[in-house]
Amino acid sequence: MRKNRLRLVGVLAAVLVAVTAPAVQAKDEPPTLAELAQRHGRYFGSATDNPELTDAPYVSLLGSEFDQITPGNGMKWYATEPQQGVFDFSAGDEVVNLARANHQKVRGHTLVWHSQLPDWLTGREWKPRELRAVLKKHIQTEVRHYRGKVFAWDVVNEAFNEDGTYRETIFYKTLGPGYIADALRWAHQADPRVKLYLNDYNIEAIGPKSDAYYKLAKKLKAQGVPLHGIGLQAHLALQYGYPTTLEDNLRRFSRLGLDTALTEVDIRMYLPADEEKLATQAEWYRDVTKACLAVRRCVGITLWDYTDKYSWIPAFFEGEGAALPWDEELRPKPAYYAIRDALK
Ligand code: XIL
Repeated sequence: MRKNRLRLVGVLAAVLVAVTAPAVQAKDEPPTLAELAQRHGRYFGSATDNPELTDAPYVSLLGSEFDQITPGNGMKWYATEPQQGVFDFSAGDEVVNLARANHQKVRGHTLVWHSQLPDWLTGREWKPRELRAVLKKHIQTEVRHYRGKVFAWDVVNEAFNEDGTYRETIFYKTLGPGYIADALRWAHQADPRVKLYLNDYNIEAIGPKSDAYYKLAKKLKAQGVPLHGIGLQAHLALQYGYPTTLEDNLRRFSRLGLDTALTEVDIRMYLPADEEKLATQAEWYRDVTKACLAVRRCVGITLWDYTDKYSWIPAFFEGEGAALPWDEELRPKPAYYAIRDALK
């Protein structure tokens, strides 16, 4: 009897070891940024773009290190409605399908923006009534297409100037400032569950531009307009200094009952990079991550791609680059270790 029981215990122990062994092995690998962020109830994501998806080592890291992705271009107006009323979701779908395969969530980017618009839209004059119809149809067709597949939308992107006045876009000039509330309402009709954001750059610190968002958000909330979050792009640059009021800024939006997210993080520098600049960059990545973790409603962080190999910076800012936590050979930089540190 006792012998049998002992044997049973032995067998059970062996089974236990067999079952837990892979988990123990997995623990030897460092946890991913996504796993670390999840412990705080946050996501850690990266943008990506269709041409890069043929790069197998790149795709592998994209699939393992992150739990959220944003299509860098594939959901923009020029890509999704290249001719009026003719929709093409193939680029965005490719990213969504990849995300699904890797159990990642997707931020939709972006419905209403003055940049990367199709020629048929920018190449003529519109009567307000016509443009309203075009805008509504674009928003609702795209939001409906991605219903249940994206958890958030950047509904309006970059609506304000640096001084906090409205940017004079085709939408503002033709429809007036009310186009923002309309866009939010139309998106909400098309998918009542998806989180709706306004998104912009240079709104990390408290200042005229982020004040404009604060005032607008407060007004929209008071009017019952469906707005759920503010996206801070966080395209930072070493030469402009660190936005020290970031955490306070995130907190004031939380107090309005809004989520916040760091949606397009990169930290550029003048090239060539050197050890000192990369160390400062790492500190900034650490501080940005900590700021988000410190504010309960900051829901997650997205890098604007994760490797210098595919960063948009060199093509848009002459002489600048090295903005991301992985270098051009997909090797982690000091910034990567600093983010991990902040997430621990
Ligand atoms: C950038 C893309 O990364 C580039 O590939 C493209 O050529 C231009 O747009 N703010 C945004 C993003 O909201 O959509 C921009 O993405 C970067 C700045």
